[in-house]
Amino acid sequence: MQTGKPINAFNFLRQIRDNGISIYPPSAHQVDFASRRLGLQQFILLNHPDYIQHVLVRNQENYPKGRLTRQILGPALGRGLLNSEGDFWRRQRRIAAPSFHHKRLIDLADVMSDTALQTADKWRLAAQSGGSLDITREMMRLTMEIVARSLFSHDIAGSIDQLGAAITVMIDSIGRPSLLDLLGLPEWLPRPRSREFNAAMALINNTIYEILRQRRAATQASGADSGDLLGMLLAARDETTGEGMSDRQLRDEVVTIFAAGHETTAVAMSWTWYLLSQHPQYEARLHLELDQVLAGQAPRFADLEQLPYTRMVFEEALRLYPPAFSLTRVAVADDRVGPHRIPKGAMVTLSPWVTHRDPRLWPDPERFDPDRFLPEAVRQRHKFAYFPFGGGPRVCIGNSFALMEGRLILAALAQRYRLRLEPGHPVEPQGRITLRPRHGMPMTIEER
Ligand code: HEM
Repeated sequence: MQTGKPINAFNFLRQIRDNGISIYPPSAHQVDFASRRLGLQQFILLNHPDYIQHVLVRNQENYPKGRLTRQILGPALGRGLLNSEGDFWRRQRRIAAPSFHHKRLIDLADVMSDTALQTADKWRLAAQSGGSLDITREMMRLTMEIVARSLFSHDIAGSIDQLGAAITVMIDSIGRPSLLDLLGLPEWLPRPRSREFNAAMALINNTIYEILRQRRAATQASGADSGDLLGMLLAARDETTGEGMSDRQLRDEVVTIFAAGHETTAVAMSWTWYLLSQHPQYEARLHLELDQVLAGQAPRFADLEQLPYTRMVFEEALRLYPPAFSLTRVAVADDRVGPHRIPKGAMVTLSPWVTHRDPRLWPDPERFDPDRFLPEAVRQRHKFAYFPFGGGPRVCIGNSFALMEGRLILAALAQRYRLRLEPGHPVEPQGRITLRPRHGMPMTIEER
């Protein structure tokens, strides 16, 4: 993105549909502000921590997610939490929030750790055979199972591959926005949808409606509910009408949590394994910490405080490969950041991918170095030099959930195994809603 120049629509579209990070040249990591036009639409990239804080926190009312996000995510996520606005969003967020409170997360730690240990057991065969596994797929399975068990008290082990594949098709498809969306053409104009996308959506919807049906039947039979996120959503009543959520809205919330809650953590874990495999010296420090603190036992909530290096490794992986690589907002009124004008209607992008690799904020930014997350180093940095979970009122609701999950998965698996990338395999980050490894991540599993 260079300042001022109009964009060649077709090149831009091609780039953005293929790989959302390819629109940022290396120079983007070193400018505070960049602006381009596509037709009548102005796109602005903000890459100064103060400006990022301004949009997400200080003047967040001026920056809703806007039309483009709604059009891109809407066909898949409907009016779920990620994609709703205003009073409606506030109400839904209030309903969901208690399921992610610290008190509740302590109970979920065991579910996360035990599910990860099942994966560790499954990997024994792969380790003995010496063959490689696609680690991204493995992590997708694991994180999806964790979300289903911990937030919906539902075991999806039987349908996990089908559902996982359908969610991947869904995310892949919405990650390639159409020109109609980018040019801001009206929402009533139908967008082309592939048969594959429609089939994936049908499978996802049927699975979710079945989860709802089973839960309602179980609650009716026992007269009580387990109090998880699904229970909260089902029990919620409108303050004025007393009505519960429609099945359609419940679907939107559940599919949002499934999609936002498993893919992000799974890709974060894939990058973490990759980085560790490339940096044996840091991997050895991680192993030492795990061996000293856990001594072969399952990681539990109480252990997390004693595992600072495990946390630092995961946080550094989220810096280099932030799964949510770009956030977009629309300015509803004219505004300013520093000396720059943001006109009403401009599409404002904040990109953790860009900011996390800014050499002015992160010396030698390409280098993997978990020590960047030592407490004193964190204290010296601007709070918004690092924002893998966004910030302000729309900050990721699963932020603490994901940080706990990532550390527990890492602890449970790295305690037993060392992962190595298949020799010669090309590794390239590809931005499609999330930042995935374009060619997958085949790795061999070695018993430690
Ligand atoms: C490493 C893992 C994760 C990353 C990097 C991540 C990142 C993000 C980011 C950047 C946002 C804000 C988007 C914006 O402002 O436009 C967000 C929102 C959200 N995330 Fe996450 N997320 C992760 C894990 C999770 C998990 C585990 C869940 C649920 C179980 C979750 C559920 C959501 C939801 C529902 C929202 C929308 C919140 C709202 O707008 O009120 N995320 N996430």
